[in-house]
Amino acid sequence: MATQGGIEAPKGTADWLPRQVATRAAIIAEAAAIFERAGYEQIETPVFEAAELFKRGVGEATDIVEKEMFTFEDLGGRHMTLRPEGTAAICRAYVQHGMHKLPQPVRLWYAGPFFRYEAPQAGRYRQFSQIGAEAIGTESPLADAESISMLDTLLRELGVPGVELGLGSLGSPETRATYRIELQEYLRAHAGELSEEVKRRIETNPLRAFDAKDPGTNAVMEEAPKLLDRLSESDAAHLAEVEKLLGALGVDYRIDPTLVRGLDYYSQTVFAFTCDRLGAQSEIGGGGRYDGLVAELGGPPTPAVGWAAGLERIAIALEEEPAAPERDVFVAAVEPAQRVRAAALVDELRRKGLSAELDLAGRSVKGQLKQANRINARHTVILDEDGTAQLKEMTSGEQRQVATADVLDELLK
Ligand code: HAM
Repeated sequence: MATQGGIEAPKGTADWLPRQVATRAAIIAEAAAIFERAGYEQIETPVFEAAELFKRGVGEATDIVEKEMFTFEDLGGRHMTLRPEGTAAICRAYVQHGMHKLPQPVRLWYAGPFFRYEAPQAGRYRQFSQIGAEAIGTESPLADAESISMLDTLLRELGVPGVELGLGSLGSPETRATYRIELQEYLRAHAGELSEEVKRRIETNPLRAFDAKDPGTNAVMEEAPKLLDRLSESDAAHLAEVEKLLGALGVDYRIDPTLVRGLDYYSQTVFAFTCDRLGAQSEIGGGGRYDGLVAELGGPPTPAVGWAAGLERIAIALEEEPAAPERDVFVAAVEPAQRVRAAALVDELRRKGLSAELDLAGRSVKGQLKQANRINARHTVILDEDGTAQLKEMTSGEQRQVATADVLDELLK
């Protein structure tokens, strides 16, 4: 609802109301349990970083760096960027803290806000949240399969419906470089049928043509040579091993020869989970291998694999709001004079670990009982003038008199 003359949250951002916070906290808790069982530890990096990190890490020719970063100059004249993604920052932290000296791989997970200046629409925001996991310091296909399987498990345990996993490979940087030349030649030969955007990017980022939305480009790309058919023997063996392991772990997937991702750091395995409940922004999570990123950021050559999933998109796909929270006790006072007693009792109940509330609005007894219902109290204590108390069990409606001194014991039973 628009407020008159008021200030609203910026376009593409949203408030999380208490019930939404609860849904999201539950999703993060589920993810945390899966991560911890697999030996992942939580890391937190700053919300802003040097702009240079993402230019180098994510790639100058990507949509993210070209047009989606919130970059500002701080008062010291440095270029800072609100993080558009987590992987580059985590690799920065890995290098900065000498984590290559720890037993490898270093397994890290994270959850938090990210920022991209995208056109807002359902499921696409300028501030959004990701949960992600990175295994740094391993080239084993076992790590790829473990990583993919964790996201599969998470979506399954949460009960997200209509999920599909697409799997592909971008091969080694050498494979990709040779293929890139072949694809550029093909695109130049079909330049007349391509969108302006794709044409403009033939020289800088030809692979993105596979993600184009216009029918002309799509028709051209259907016939285009596919990187998957150009994989070297060792690239193909890596992918075959990942496939075999996914089979063994019971993860369903489909090979997608057109799967390219919006970040430049990927090599070998790439994957994306889509959900048919999400409309146009159907990707719920995705990732892949980034064997060159740590070295790109000044660390030793360090292969790695990981993914991130959109928290808002998971919540949309689940579509369910959790039930309103319940409270243990509401303490009602018959006479205003009993309110001091009520406050003391509420305080004592809270100290014993129960959730307890009392009326703060000067309601009548009837109004107080209504309020107890509204907040889903399991029990209501009604303090009488004569110093006794009634204990009411709200679901059954059963009510009995107890001595004030015994209220606590009765409730703790
Ligand atoms: P990404 O595919 O750019 O990958 O983002 C991961 C997920 O974040 C997407 O699948 C989507 O659910 C969510 N997401 C992205 N942009 C938005 C947006 N504007 N609004 C709402 N949700 C969004 C990465 O960020 C990589 N760092 C993943 C990764 C980790 N690769 C290796 N390790």
